[in-house]
Amino acid sequence: MFTPQPIGFVSSPYKEASQVPKGLGAKHEAEGTLMILPDLELGLTDIEGFSHLIVLWEFDRSGGFELLGTPPADNRPHGVFATRSPRRPNPIGFTVVELLRRDGLKLHVRGVDMLDGTPVLDIKPYLSNIPAEKLRRGWLAEAEARLK
Ligand SMILES: C[S@@+](CC[C@H](N)C(=O)[O-])C[C@H]1O[C@@H](n2cnc3c(N)ncnc32)[C@H](O)[C@@H]1O
Repeated sequence: MFTPQPIGFVSSPYKEASQVPKGLGAKHEAEGTLMILPDLELGLTDIEGFSHLIVLWEFDRSGGFELLGTPPADNRPHGVFATRSPRRPNPIGFTVVELLRRDGLKLHVRGVDMLDGTPVLDIKPYLSNIPAEKLRRGWLAEAEARLK
C-alpha cells in the first residue's frame, strides 16, 4: 500500500466538530478553500471547467473506529460502511463540493463539512451518471420517514 501524502489543506469556517451541521436534513452550504501545495499546481490545469469536485480527505481528528454505530441521522445502529461516520478503519472522508472559482493554488468551494486544516488526499471532477430513480437510500430513507 502507498503512504498517503496531503496534496493540500482545507481552509474551513469549522474549527470544531460541534460546529458542522449534522443529522437529518442537515445542509452543507459553508464556503471554504482547498489550498493546494505549490509543487502540484500543474495538476490543477483545466479544473475550472467543472462545476463540482469530489474531495477525498483524511479524518485527522478522529480516533479509532467503530464497526457498528448510531449516526446523528438515526436512533438505530448501522454498519460503518453503510454510514459516513468519521470513525472508520481507514479514516478517509469524501465530500462533493461546488467549485466557485480558482485563484492560482486556491480552489474556492461551497459545501465543505471538513474541519479547518483537514488534509486533502485527492480531488477528482464529479461526473454523476446514475439516474435519480435508480438510487436507493437504504436506512436513511427509512429513518427520514420514521423520524419526521
Ligand atoms: C459525517 S462526516 C461526513 C464527512 C464526509 N462528507 C464523508 O461522507 O466522508 C462529517 C463529520 O466529520 C467530522 N470531521 C470533519 N473534519 C474532520 C477531521 N478533519 N477529522 C475528524 N473529524 C472531522 C465533523 O464532525 C463532521 O460533522
